[in-house]
Amino acid sequence: MTKPTLPYTTIEQVLTPLLAPVLPTPFQSLSPAEHWMLDSVRLSLNGWGGVSPNPLVGAMVLDPQGKIIGTGWHAEAGKPHAEPIALESAGIIPQGSTLVVTLEPCNHWGKTPPCTRSIIQSGIQKVVVGCKDANPLVAGTGIEALLCAGIEVQTGVLEALCQQVNRAFFTRIEQNRPFVALKWAQTLDGKLATRQGHSQWITAPPARTWVHGMRAGFDALLTSASTVAADNPSFTCRQSDILPVRPPVRVVVDTALRLNPVEYQIFDTTLAPTWVIMGEGVSINKTHLETLKTKGVKVLSAALNSTGCGLDLADVLRVLHEADIGKVWVEGGGKLTSAFLQADQLVDDVYAFISPKLLGDASAIACFQQANIPWKLPIGASFSLFNVAHIGEDALLVLHRVES
Ligand SMILES: NC(=O)c1ccc[n+]([C@@H]2O[C@H](COP(=O)([O-])OP(=O)(O)OC[C@H]3O[C@@H](n4cnc5c(N)ncnc54)[C@H](OP(=O)(O)O)[C@@H]3O)[C@@H](O)[C@H]2O)c1
Repeated sequence: MTKPTLPYTTIEQVLTPLLAPVLPTPFQSLSPAEHWMLDSVRLSLNGWGGVSPNPLVGAMVLDPQGKIIGTGWHAEAGKPHAEPIALESAGIIPQGSTLVVTLEPCNHWGKTPPCTRSIIQSGIQKVVVGCKDANPLVAGTGIEALLCAGIEVQTGVLEALCQQVNRAFFTRIEQNRPFVALKWAQTLDGKLATRQGHSQWITAPPARTWVHGMRAGFDALLTSASTVAADNPSFTCRQSDILPVRPPVRVVVDTALRLNPVEYQIFDTTLAPTWVIMGEGVSINKTHLETLKTKGVKVLSAALNSTGCGLDLADVLRVLHEADIGKVWVEGGGKLTSAFLQADQLVDDVYAFISPKLLGDASAIACFQQANIPWKLPIGASFSLFNVAHIGEDALLVLHRVES
């Protein structure tokens, strides 16, 4: 029986493979608070493609009879948070009303006032919180402020789901570097491309639509000079209805600026911004540097890795972190993918597509052909299998890094 082809046109469809193991099952009976939280999580997803580096947050206001009278979500970094939007949309708040929010309300002045202040001023009597905020500026103080104001607080409702929704946000704060998702697509026999270097298309259209929807939620999409040379990708989010508020920055690691910018569409900055990261102290192609600048491409530099070949990927992430990049989507060939996996604890999520196609050619490019990973079983840097999803005719493996 053929599986129906899913369109992946809504944020919920795109994010379901990342959340499925912690979503309530259809047969699970939920408490009213869990029902409200599930709806608030749905609201939070509307911020995909707008909120980063902030978290996704959804909120709703319920009157004392449990009727929804206000809803809101955080839509864009720097813009109002979910809680004040939900409170404002509710209008006059009846006595005994409840606020449901997926993440602990903030209690500090940032680009917007503290959410705890608007909650306390609104007369809300109870707040239901999905999970605590790991951000040291909040971390429990939001809940404390509400309790001190005499508001009843219920925490940990659908906690695993609420944490999962903001996995990237929490990881970035804990690791003090951007969250990194590594995506690749391989054939059943473990190949990334034909022997001539053709990788379009290993997966079927639904997987590609899913990828474009996912890219929309990232700040940067990173690839290599070799992949640009082989595929001439535009590397945008065009094949999806899910469009980001600002297009993610396309980042090319090109150690010696070997790519001629006039030859590749990724350097057309009218589509999206492009940054190139070159090696520090490397002899570069100066004509290419001038052309990149004329085309509006930002050129940054990072340290070389210890072998002197290619960039130090931890330093690449440091450079991106300093440039306010919170989430990086990596889509490279075998060498870059291997190098990221080989580097110590730099990859947080792996999205590996396995297509049912066989190339049947020993000389086709293998996934980790170039790797020199000194791993033995049990594997050193390991991942846990979080989910296996059917996306069109391809399988998607979602892996999470295991802390060592
Ligand atoms: N199936 C898929 O999912 C998929 C995805 C993308 C690409 N591809 C295919 O993969 C092929 C290209 O793969 P590839 O292995 O030749 O190239 P790659 O892995 O995409 O890139 C390797 C290049 O990245 C640069 N680089 C910078 N720092 C590095 C580091 N620390 N470690 C490794 N590389 C670093 C180096 O070029 P410089 O020294 O010039 O900086 C290096 O030659 C193409 O045929 C493409 O179609 C397949």
